[in-house]
Amino acid sequence: MKLSRRNFIRIVGSSAIILAPTACSSKTDLPDPFTPWAIADTPIEPIQFALSHALLAPNPHNRQPWLVDIQDQTSAILYVDPKMDLPETDPFDRQITIGLGCFLEVLAIAAQEQNYEAKIDYFPGGFDQQTLDKRPIAKIKLLKNPIISSDTLYSQIFHRRTNRKPFTKQQPTTKQLAKITKRYASTNSVFASSIAQIEQLKDLTVAAANIEFKTPAAHMESVALMRIGTAEIANNPDGISINGPAMGILKAVGIVTRKTLADEKSTAFKQGLEQYTDAAASAANFVWISTNSNTRIDQIKAGRAYVRQNLIATKLGLSMQPLSQALQEYPEMKQLLLKVHEITQTSGQRLQMLSRIGYGTKEALSPRFPLAAKLVEHENKQH
Ligand SMILES: Cc1cc2nc3c(=O)[nH]c(=O)nc-3n(C[C@H](O)[C@H](O)[C@H](O)COP(=O)(O)O)c2cc1C
Repeated sequence: MKLSRRNFIRIVGSSAIILAPTACSSKTDLPDPFTPWAIADTPIEPIQFALSHALLAPNPHNRQPWLVDIQDQTSAILYVDPKMDLPETDPFDRQITIGLGCFLEVLAIAAQEQNYEAKIDYFPGGFDQQTLDKRPIAKIKLLKNPIISSDTLYSQIFHRRTNRKPFTKQQPTTKQLAKITKRYASTNSVFASSIAQIEQLKDLTVAAANIEFKTPAAHMESVALMRIGTAEIANNPDGISINGPAMGILKAVGIVTRKTLADEKSTAFKQGLEQYTDAAASAANFVWISTNSNTRIDQIKAGRAYVRQNLIATKLGLSMQPLSQALQEYPEMKQLLLKVHEITQTSGQRLQMLSRIGYGTKEALSPRFPLAAKLVEHENKQH
């Protein structure tokens, strides 16, 4: 079915619908992909409690790349789920590792809520810089510590979102930005300090999104992970949710399908790119995290720092969205990877996260697999 751009917008009603995940409850008997948000604080066993929160952490493309082997009531081993990698846009598993760092930080915050300190040994069996392998990502032991106080960011775990909608023109204050970029886990955390730098980063993130959308292998990796409509999201509670009131119709009549989303000439493709770049261009400011080297441990620490930025921003009423395209390691992005280091004055370091920040409308929840789906099966133990 061919449709003019104007009619397409009329049908959709608002361009914000396409890439906006919505918390819809399933009318069928499919599992509700948002339940993990509602039940995170119900487990009684300390390790289950901490893990149920950890899986609400931000992570690349919502792949939820964690696999957990629970040892006993206070300990677990974290592995990567190799099926959840992103070989085109994350060829060295750098972003996947950052996502695992986010998971560990949320776990530690949640453990504190029950007076436990999370002792985390990273990569006890060593690591591969090229690709994550079957060796553990971390050994986790929760140690009872009656004097440990709860983390003030705990309640924000449930309110934190990645916001992909345009932000308003209202600027965060320097004081807020300083709080959000407070140094954490030996990473460097900075915000843009001039209008010129903000404008350069807007141009760069828009250019990088254009490259990514128009590099077929990279874009197809995202398209394969798009979950269109309520049933697909419930069946695959990961990836990029594309939902909204009219989505069932748009999918049924063939307007928004994986095929149209992949086709540069289609309205669905153009709308997707336009929404992404409009959002990038609406950034009020940018915050970033860099590390002096780029080991797996640096990447884990960057993840721990990133989720704290996101939680502090949430507490201050601000929204964030990582814009990772220019930081990625595939050949078409090479020039922009150099340029983003120049603009952020991080040449010689490794820029790990770059996010736009500002005031936005409250976003819907993104789906999650339940904890049970993320446990290493007994007979399938990896060690
Ligand atoms: C390493 C990393 C890179 C990410 N890059 C992007 C990005 O480029 N664009 C984007 O919209 N979201 C990005 N995100 C956010 C994830 O897509 C998001 O966390 C995930 O979809 C789950 O949604 P939630 O954060 O609302 O729970 C990134 C997150 C991480 C941890």
